[in-house]
Amino acid sequence: MEENLLRKDLSIDVLTAKELSPLFWRPARLGVVSAWWEHVPFAHWLVAVMQPRSLVELGTHNGVSYSAFCEAVSRLGLDTHCHAVDTWHGDEHAGLYGENVYAELKRFHDARYGSFSALLRLTFDEAVNYFADGSVDLLHIDGLHSYDAVRHDFDTWLPKMSERGVVLFHDVNVRAGDFGVWKFWGELQERYPSFTFIHGYGLGVLAVGSAADDAVGHLCSVSDLARVSAIRERFALIGERWNLEYRDLERTKELNKREQTIATLDEDVAGLRHQIGQQVEHAAQLERAVEEVKESHRARDIQIQHQDRELNALRAQNADLETARVTLHKGVQDQLQRADVLTAQIEELSASRAELIASNHALRAKLDATREADAERIRLGFADRHQERCLEEPHRCGQKSSGVRSEPPEEEQKGSA
Ligand SMILES: C[S@@+](CC[C@H](N)C(=O)[O-])C[C@H]1O[C@@H](n2cnc3c(N)ncnc32)[C@H](O)[C@@H]1O
Repeated sequence: MEENLLRKDLSIDVLTAKELSPLFWRPARLGVVSAWWEHVPFAHWLVAVMQPRSLVELGTHNGVSYSAFCEAVSRLGLDTHCHAVDTWHGDEHAGLYGENVYAELKRFHDARYGSFSALLRLTFDEAVNYFADGSVDLLHIDGLHSYDAVRHDFDTWLPKMSERGVVLFHDVNVRAGDFGVWKFWGELQERYPSFTFIHGYGLGVLAVGSAADDAVGHLCSVSDLARVSAIRERFALIGERWNLEYRDLERTKELNKREQTIATLDEDVAGLRHQIGQQVEHAAQLERAVEEVKESHRARDIQIQHQDRELNALRAQNADLETARVTLHKGVQDQLQRADVLTAQIEELSASRAELIASNHALRAKLDATREADAERIRLGFADRHQERCLEEPHRCGQKSSGVRSEPPEEEQKGSA
């Protein structure tokens, strides 16, 4: 078998066969998260070989599987009506996500596949009523992965499948939590022709129509284990490339984000360094200011010491002055005492003087009285003598002797005085 394939003429023909082209198409939807990347080459191949008239996907999220189907339709120019059904809110297995997922996918989808495809934002049960029975050639079930949910989805949509109908189930090889596709898949394999891919969480291909496409019918009828393994390995190998590329893109995105973060951090660090530089400069200015303040303190200390010395000198001077003042005060007190003594003496002297004056007055009065008396006596004596003389010599008195006493002549009075 291997030897045949390696024959020169055949190997080139096989390598360049157009039929193989879908296996090597580059996915259009690279760069978004999905567990479906490893099945993209099979999706391309399946659409190419089936050329379905109607294609429906239940569970689209970021649109990796759906875009693979649509990309094949687009590249091959098929007359396929495509519909993707999802609430675009998420579920308990895929997790809940935001409005941006639908908005971004719609932009991508409408630009590329809007002419033959539509996104139906509905539940699977709501959407089923918009499809006629027996109208769907290819159905991909990738909603909630519990046993009950996947069984319900299959049972609800089975009537819509055409005679050529093929149903794909993702996650047939996940055995974790309440994932139950594997179990339901086991039951379905008993009822319909099928092929199971193990890689990429498992993809089940179920030929539910009685007139399945030749290629799909052929795939589902391969029983030789070596061929089954070869088919699985080859699809797994070429599918892995897109998973790796997706991871690489994710890592690149993560690296870009980190580089952006690093650049932002570098800017922050540069900003902080600048701030530190400014603060160091500010600190140096403050240090200089502190030195200046210290210097002025030192100058003031010196001034204070100088003033202290002056103050001490003034205090000493003050003490001397105080001593002098006390001495003077004492001298003044002594003088005042002496003045009091002198005043007392003056008062005594004044009293004595007054007494003396009084006695002088008295003596003078006595003397005056005595003098007056003496003068009277003299006068009387003189008058007596004048009278006697007038009597004796009346001519000298200018009067006749009448015996009347007259005043002596003035010169006599004076002479007697
Ligand atoms: C695993 S994701 C689909 C992955 C997608 N096929 C891909 O290529 O990556 C499951 C999606 O099914 C949707 N879903 C689950 N149950 C649903 C329901 N009953 N009706 C509508 N959408 C549902 C969720 O919103 C989620 O986006």
